[in-house]
Amino acid sequence: MSESTSAPEWWRTAVIYQVYPRSFADASGDGIGDLKGVTAHLDHLASLGVDAVWLSPFYRSPQNDAGYDVSDYCDVDPLFGTLADFDEMLTTAHGLGLRVIVDIVPNHSSSEHRWFQDALAAGPGSEERGHYIFREGRGVDGELPPNNWDSVFGGPAWTRVTEADGTLGQWYLHLFDTTQPDFDWTNPWVADRFDEVLRFWMDRGVDGFRIDVANGLAKEDGLPDLPAELVGKGGDVIADVHPYWSRDESHPIWRRWRKVTDEYDDRALVGEAWVQPLARMAHWVRPDELHQTFNFGYLLTPWTAHDQRAVIDESLAAFGGVGAPSTWVLSNHDTVRHTTRLALKEQIPHGTGVGPLSPDRPDEAFGLHRGRAATLLMLALPGSAYMYQGEELGLPEAIDIPDDTREDPTWFRTGPEVYGRDGCRVPLPWEASKPAYGFSPTGASWLPQPPTWALYAADAQAGVAGSTLEMYRDALRLRSEHELGAGRLEWELSPAESLQFVVGGIRVVTNLGDDPLPLPHGEVLISSAPVDGSLPKDTTAWLRAE
Ligand code: GLC
Repeated sequence: MSESTSAPEWWRTAVIYQVYPRSFADASGDGIGDLKGVTAHLDHLASLGVDAVWLSPFYRSPQNDAGYDVSDYCDVDPLFGTLADFDEMLTTAHGLGLRVIVDIVPNHSSSEHRWFQDALAAGPGSEERGHYIFREGRGVDGELPPNNWDSVFGGPAWTRVTEADGTLGQWYLHLFDTTQPDFDWTNPWVADRFDEVLRFWMDRGVDGFRIDVANGLAKEDGLPDLPAELVGKGGDVIADVHPYWSRDESHPIWRRWRKVTDEYDDRALVGEAWVQPLARMAHWVRPDELHQTFNFGYLLTPWTAHDQRAVIDESLAAFGGVGAPSTWVLSNHDTVRHTTRLALKEQIPHGTGVGPLSPDRPDEAFGLHRGRAATLLMLALPGSAYMYQGEELGLPEAIDIPDDTREDPTWFRTGPEVYGRDGCRVPLPWEASKPAYGFSPTGASWLPQPPTWALYAADAQAGVAGSTLEMYRDALRLRSEHELGAGRLEWELSPAESLQFVVGGIRVVTNLGDDPLPLPHGEVLISSAPVDGSLPKDTTAWLRAE
């Protein structure tokens, strides 16, 4: 472990890089990334200067939701390799000073999981059915779903089963795809199984978990109908009380998980919890609950000085109020890449995507310019930052993905109509002149890569002054040298539509307006675009504070 990652409570200031295994690097040549591919490229992450890696699911799975439909929580899917490959990856990462956190998916399993298959076979009223949420239907013959809840991916959140005797029977709940049945977290059996899963991976040496759909596990007793105004809103819900999002009954689950992780040294739990407002999210990271949650409020914030400053203040106050670090994130595998998203004329709901027929197609160069400014602003903020693979290359959202190659269940469950998340999941370009830009040795790639991506390839940017890759490297080095993650942010007066603050001896200025601004005095340490006495529009610079 390097000095920074061996520090106690490393997660408070860590920069954590999300690896989406199927799109990171493919060693086997089948067009789908794998664990050997991850291991082979860990030096890229070490030289980038991140502290930790978070891996999206690589567990056994029929891959109906790209691995978020798990059929065995304690084994690696052959698509990604073996447990031995995982161990090798973990040892290599640790040897390079990188921590590794893995995804855990406790809201639902795959319908192919043995536990769900046992529940189907055991029939209504059985102990096994009690592990999931089975109910009788409404209507004369139970032909209507038990309530009006809808799936985040579109369509109803209930599917009716055919019982062993061939008759139509009970319905089961799935907040996501039909193949992702929800567990019943009021059943202690479920909690016991997940304690075992946590221990399995911690015993293997992982440094923590990213908890999928952490805001969905607890459902309201009696499963009451959604009020009409909340139907069809997916996961983008801001409601104080909701029958299945962000319920207070979640807290005992996190206290239990915290006890389990506290049996080990220095492990961290980060929740994927779309809880709003941030003041409410802070309840999730109280000292005996999760260590962190993703700050999606920040991710969704429009690119204006007023909004950005407000969300930064609100985050520092809310998380700081319970002694937790704030986290920051601009991109992940569920949202339009920030180089494209921040350049859209209007905000779009997360998870909907941009595709060939979308009315708003931002200019790539403009998006990259603004995206880099947002990155340098984010990486200066105190707390812990999450990066998504490929953002260090400045990748844009892939928009022109042919319909017949799309894989996101959102696409299929909405018509097809809503593009979904494939555009941010396209395999990475490593080497400009190689087939599939070096993603796989055979040139295979599970989603097609845009023809312009040679320009973004890692080898085309390495060592090139001013490239996005070198900007990230420099920023991460400065962030670590100046201990910005542990710093204290002090705002300074600045012209309208700009932000200016000092942290860790660095003055950070961002111009979010339309006109260039005078640059404050001081040595420029790094900037997101060339600065020549003035700070151009959509640019961030870090200067030595005098
Ligand atoms: C989370 C994951 C997303 C997945 C969903 C269902 O939101 O980030 O990719 O589709 O959960 O597991």
